[in-house]
Amino acid sequence: MKFSISKGLLAERRRFANPFDSIEIAYGNRMTRRDETEMSETAMTPADLSAAAAAAGERVRRPRLAPTKGLPNPTEYVVALDGEFADCAYNEERAVAFRGKWRSDAFHVGDEHPLDLEIGTGNGFHFAHLAKANPSRSILGIEVKFKPLIQSIRRARAAGAKNCAIARYDAYLLQDLFAEGELNNVYIHFPDPWSKKRQWKHRLIQSEFLDVLYSLMRPGSVFEFKTDNLDYFEWAAERFHASKFRVTRETRDLHKSEWASQNFVTHFESIFLSQGMKINYARMEKV
Ligand SMILES: C[S@@+](CC[C@H](N)C(=O)[O-])C[C@H]1O[C@@H](n2cnc3c(N)ncnc32)[C@H](O)[C@@H]1O
Repeated sequence: MKFSISKGLLAERRRFANPFDSIEIAYGNRMTRRDETEMSETAMTPADLSAAAAAAGERVRRPRLAPTKGLPNPTEYVVALDGEFADCAYNEERAVAFRGKWRSDAFHVGDEHPLDLEIGTGNGFHFAHLAKANPSRSILGIEVKFKPLIQSIRRARAAGAKNCAIARYDAYLLQDLFAEGELNNVYIHFPDPWSKKRQWKHRLIQSEFLDVLYSLMRPGSVFEFKTDNLDYFEWAAERFHASKFRVTRETRDLHKSEWASQNFVTHFESIFLSQGMKINYARMEKV
């Protein structure tokens, strides 16, 4: 890494940012850890993918979440997901059933109602803020880890927001969860930077991911990205500019930029700021 970072912060980042302790990859008949393999991301549905792969005589490599239901020794957060918060927090099995029907079946709103997505909500400060500040929009979060997932929905509900829900899912598999044109605005704040060169293939921002995201969003919607990691930002910015998105904002020092006053400081952002680090920010629009 090019910046100085405290041991405490690194520990925090590892604790929050590496979801792969609960994710495995199905590769043929073999299960391997995700960090040994690459993602396959297209705008196709899971069924399309399997059919295309079968037609091509190939096996598809797809990440797979360990099912919530079969988990041995479920923690209080796992229990809360299917218990206390069952009306607004969905395990991976329930979440995929809403594909194409989030507005009507999860939020009980009309097709024109805005539906925004936050990917990787962490402990949910931004998620709760988004829901509370935008009562006329529906806000969905996705999180792979049970603890931050429950923290996020609990925080939003405690703030009185009823227009939000959260799903346990893997951001690399957005097309499992959403149909084309189902989403409005999308927020990705401080995803894992996967700093080492051999790990770049794991970065969430890839050209294929952006193609998928673009197809899932409605025209006129915006996609916001923030990271403390300049290397990752340069990588992402290159792909943003090469994508179908129109880049409308781009700064390598958000807090000294013209957009500083409109910015909500997320939990991780506050940690990085306290370390004196600059925040990189971009905003894209689906035209
Ligand atoms: C570094 S934290 C940032 C949290 C929050 N966005 C913030 O700014 O404070 C990243 C979060 O993304 C989640 N996450 C990481 N990879 C994910 C993935 N593939 N799908 C869904 N969530 C993911 C982690 O569990 C973690 O809570």
